Amino acid sequence: MTDEAVVCRTPLANRMTTRYDTSDADLEQAAAALRAGRLVAFPTETVYGLGALGLDEACLKRLYAGKGRPGNNPVILHTATTRQALSLVRLSNEESRLRFDQLAKRFWPGPLTLVCRKADHIPQEATAGLPKVAVRVPKHPVANRLLQLVEAPLAAPSANVSTRPSATCPEHVLATLENRIDGIVCGGSCEGGMESTVVDISDEHPVVLRPGAITLDQLRDVVPTIRQRDSIQPTATLPSPGTLGKHYAPSIPSIQLVDRARLRNAWNTDAALLLTETTATALRRALGANRSGPTEILSDEQVVYAQGLYAALYRLEQSCPDSLLIERPRATKDRDSGLQTAILDRLRRACL
Ligand code: TXA
Ligand code: MG
Repeated sequence: MTDEAVVCRTPLANRMTTRYDTSDADLEQAAAALRAGRLVAFPTETVYGLGALGLDEACLKRLYAGKGRPGNNPVILHTATTRQALSLVRLSNEESRLRFDQLAKRFWPGPLTLVCRKADHIPQEATAGLPKVAVRVPKHPVANRLLQLVEAPLAAPSANVSTRPSATCPEHVLATLENRIDGIVCGGSCEGGMESTVVDISDEHPVVLRPGAITLDQLRDVVPTIRQRDSIQPTATLPSPGTLGKHYAPSIPSIQLVDRARLRNAWNTDAALLLTETTATALRRALGANRSGPTEILSDEQVVYAQGLYAALYRLEQSCPDSLLIERPRATKDRDSGLQTAILDRLRRACL
């Protein structure tokens, strides 16, 4: 932290959210605001993050308040380099050091979050009192530049009010956080659209706590013993608190995950529908091209589906429908299907 760092005391509600662009001059200003203790959203390769000084208790408290995030859900600390991430963790034996190195070398900078035992100086607020900390080195050039300029780790949960969908463009960050945060770096749409994969490597059984942008197959190419959380004894590891309960949900009273038959029945109603291209083409042919309810169509290809999912959910809620029916993604056998695990996880939790 620099001398100018003075914890910001602006009250939470009704603050003006400053827009920064991605020019050097604006990024310097955004970095200065972060260093002064302000909350500034910025793009990453997955979704927009809501940045705050990650080692400053007061900033972390303001971050939780700004997001309306429950105090038991820890945040990811983002750094510009693997070396900086290493300074936040405690790797107590040779095996965990090796795993950290292998995964960092292969996937950083990128959409992987590693959960490790925390170094002593990490404040309670960053880990929600847990003995472990989550760290990630993002790849997005704007995120990386901002981290370099701030010269300190940034806590950056997804930039949305708690339980709402993550945001993949500035407009959707501001849909829930306008006037609740101090600033946003407007850096266009995020390339990935699916949050990072969270892997706990702190004990001998590395486990995926949150499926995400990097698939289990990709992880196993590097560390073959990594398992999905569900496949192990529930007592063997602490769950990731943020993977419990309703989340990723647009503001629509009823949201259901359904098969094609249900979509067919709902085609000529006012219900909002979120479906894939193949299904939309089939239903249009069978039932007519025009329907009255709001409709969002996503690619059958999982990578493109993931890119568009959250923006589609935000657009659907803008029409204020009473109900939303989401087509259940069909199982695929290709190597890419690991991304489907993440997509299904998000859709299921939106429906809780
Ligand atoms: O792609 C991403 O990960 C985005 C971008 C902005 O980096 N960030 C993000 O943060 O999705 P958030 O806070 O929305 O989700 C972080 C997840 C939550 O499920 C949280 O419970 C888990 O990581 N997590 C964080 N620290 C943890 C810890 N110490 N132990 C277990 N889980 C942890
Ligand atoms: Mg989130």
